[in-house]
Amino acid sequence: MATSLVHGIDVGTTKIVAITGRLDSRRGWVEVLSMGEAPSHGLKRGVVVDRQAAAESVAEAIEACGMRGVPVNVGIAGSHISSFNTEVTLLNRGRDLTISERFVKKLDQEARQLELTEDERVIHVVPRGYVLDGSEGVKQPVGLAARKVTMRAHVVSGALSSIQNLLHAVEDCGVKVAQVVLEPLASAESCLLEQDRSSGIALLDMGGGTTDVAAFLRGALTHTDVIPIGGESFSSDLAYGLKIPYGDAEALKLRYGSVLSDAVDSVAAVRLDDRHYNANFMSQILEYRAREILEYARQSLDKAHVRNLLPEGVVLTGGASLLDGMTELAEEVLGMRARTAVPRRVKGNVEPVQKPQYATAVGLLYFAAKNGHARPKSKGAGGTSFGSIVEAVKGWFRGGRAG
Ligand SMILES: Nc1ncnc2c1ncn2[C@@H]1O[C@H](COP(=O)(O)OP(=O)(O)OP(=O)(O)O)[C@@H](O)[C@H]1O
Ligand SMILES: [Mg+2]
Repeated sequence: MATSLVHGIDVGTTKIVAITGRLDSRRGWVEVLSMGEAPSHGLKRGVVVDRQAAAESVAEAIEACGMRGVPVNVGIAGSHISSFNTEVTLLNRGRDLTISERFVKKLDQEARQLELTEDERVIHVVPRGYVLDGSEGVKQPVGLAARKVTMRAHVVSGALSSIQNLLHAVEDCGVKVAQVVLEPLASAESCLLEQDRSSGIALLDMGGGTTDVAAFLRGALTHTDVIPIGGESFSSDLAYGLKIPYGDAEALKLRYGSVLSDAVDSVAAVRLDDRHYNANFMSQILEYRAREILEYARQSLDKAHVRNLLPEGVVLTGGASLLDGMTELAEEVLGMRARTAVPRRVKGNVEPVQKPQYATAVGLLYFAAKNGHARPKSKGAGGTSFGSIVEAVKGWFRGGRAG
């Protein structure tokens, strides 16, 4: 049977998830084999700001997952990310005009050369369609004949320094990075089905440090964006507004958080430990921040001229999408249908991953599968154990290896 092992590490702002799955490529399923999670340190708004702290957190998650030295896909986000749609054209000089895999690769290489500064690197070139001698709408050009081939693509790039810092934090733990993957693309893999994308749909991954946007039109990725605000801002707003420690604010948010202040009784009180708080005041604070994030998302979709082209509406995922009333508010602010989604298409011990917080992690497995980084099962996750990775990483830094 066509199965292979695939691996991912979601380096999130609030938590790191290491995940290993078995891909059944014939059925298009991923079976989650193991998952390890650790609180995230050393990240701010999606980017690594402390290499050692980040590496230690990654090591903890890797160890909890039991992953060893395998090539992994790693999620990336942060405001250093930019993206644009472009097209490249090449003449096919092959004698019989048949388009080969190699030729398509050349188009990809060509797109990677475009309009980048010295400090930026291309992360993805996602083909949106091909034009063969003037004929539009080709999705899969290999094997077809044409002289002049245009590839339309969505190009995602990021700051070289931020990409390197992420790679270092992961590779400090002794695992090899196969590919960095834009987080909303990974989340889209796990939360959206092909038929969702075939008309038009947007995905909003509301995490701890960032809210990531992806939009698909006619099955193709058309727009991506990273808004550097997420669930942590809700908690710090509450902490400031109620003059309480961050941890208490986070606990209140998780227990009673709502972003629809109109629906919350103005005299209702909620309790944490021995103190009471006005529930309506809390929801006003949270609603204000939620509206801000959703307004940014609307502007982002407007700027890309796609907001009115999304009949399937918007799908919300990520931990912050769990706030009460978030879908209703998203419908109001974005002016389209909204629903929340958890990873779909998973098998095995799925219950732990069927939460919006794991959309990116599960999606990384699908991404590995789709983009040829799956390794044959026989050569997969084995590797030799070298004791505690957490200790190894700590020792590494004590030894002054890292700068
Ligand atoms: N039930 C809930 N209600 C409200 N907020 C929640 C709930 N559960 C989790 N959150 C919030 O979701 C956020 C974490 O989400 P998630 O795990 O998707 O982020 P992350 O992947 O670590 O971060 P990022 O993707 O931004 O780097 C935290 O701010 C947390 O407080
Ligand atoms: Mg995330």
